[in-house]
Amino acid sequence: MKNIKERVGFWSEADIYRTQGRSISNPFKSHIEIFESKDVLEIGPGWGRQFEQLGPLASTYCVADICQKVLDRKVYKDIDKIVIKDYQQDLNRKFDIITFWYVIHHILDSELEDFFNFLNKHLYVGGSVFFNCPSDTFDKTIGSPKNIDGDGIKTTPHSVKRMKNMLKKHGFEISYQSNEVLAQNCYVLLAEKIGG
Ligand SMILES: C[S@@+](CC[C@H](N)C(=O)[O-])C[C@H]1O[C@@H](n2cnc3c(N)ncnc32)[C@H](O)[C@@H]1O
Repeated sequence: MKNIKERVGFWSEADIYRTQGRSISNPFKSHIEIFESKDVLEIGPGWGRQFEQLGPLASTYCVADICQKVLDRKVYKDIDKIVIKDYQQDLNRKFDIITFWYVIHHILDSELEDFFNFLNKHLYVGGSVFFNCPSDTFDKTIGSPKNIDGDGIKTTPHSVKRMKNMLKKHGFEISYQSNEVLAQNCYVLLAEKIGG
C-alpha cells in the first residue's frame, strides 16, 4: 500500500466525526435485516457508527482497518480486530457479509484489484458485500472530486460504473443499488458472491 505511514498517521489524528460531515450513519437501513445472525466483517469502522447499529444484530462482528488507533477504540474491546497491511493479506477465515461505509474512496485506484480480490477471498459463496461509494451526482453537484474530505493524501472517488465493473469482474452479482439513500454523495451497492 502506497504511503501507508502517512495514511495511518492521517486517520490516527483525524476527527472522524468531523470528516463524516452530514453523512448519514445508516445507508444500509433498507436491508438491515441481512445482518441478522451473520458473520460480519466491517472494513474502516471509524468511531463505530455502523458497528453500534449492526453489531448487536450479527452473530459475530470483526473490524479491520489500516489504523491501529481506530481499532483500539473502547467500543471494539470485545470483538475481533484486524490491522490491514495490504489487500494481499489472507485472514484465513470467511464471512457472510463484508461491509464498508465511506471507505472505498480512500482506497487508491491502483489498489482496487487487490481490494476486490480480498473481498472475494474472504466471503462464502452466496455471501454479500454491502457498501457505498461517492455517487456520480456528487461529482456533478459539488464540482471537483477533490472536494471529498479524505485521507489527506490521495482520495480516489471511483465512479459508480467502475465499482460495478469491479464487482462483476471479481465474481459478484449486484442485487440492490440505489442513489436515493443520500442524494448528495451516497451510491449504495449490495452484491452477492456467485463465484471465486
Ligand atoms: C471516513 S472514515 C469512515 C468511518 C465509518 N465507516 C463511518 O462511516 O463513520 C474512513 C475509515 O476507513 C479507514 N481507512 C482509511 N483508508 C483505509 C484503507 N485503505 N483500508 C481500510 N480502511 C481504511 C479509516 O481509518 C477510517 O476508519
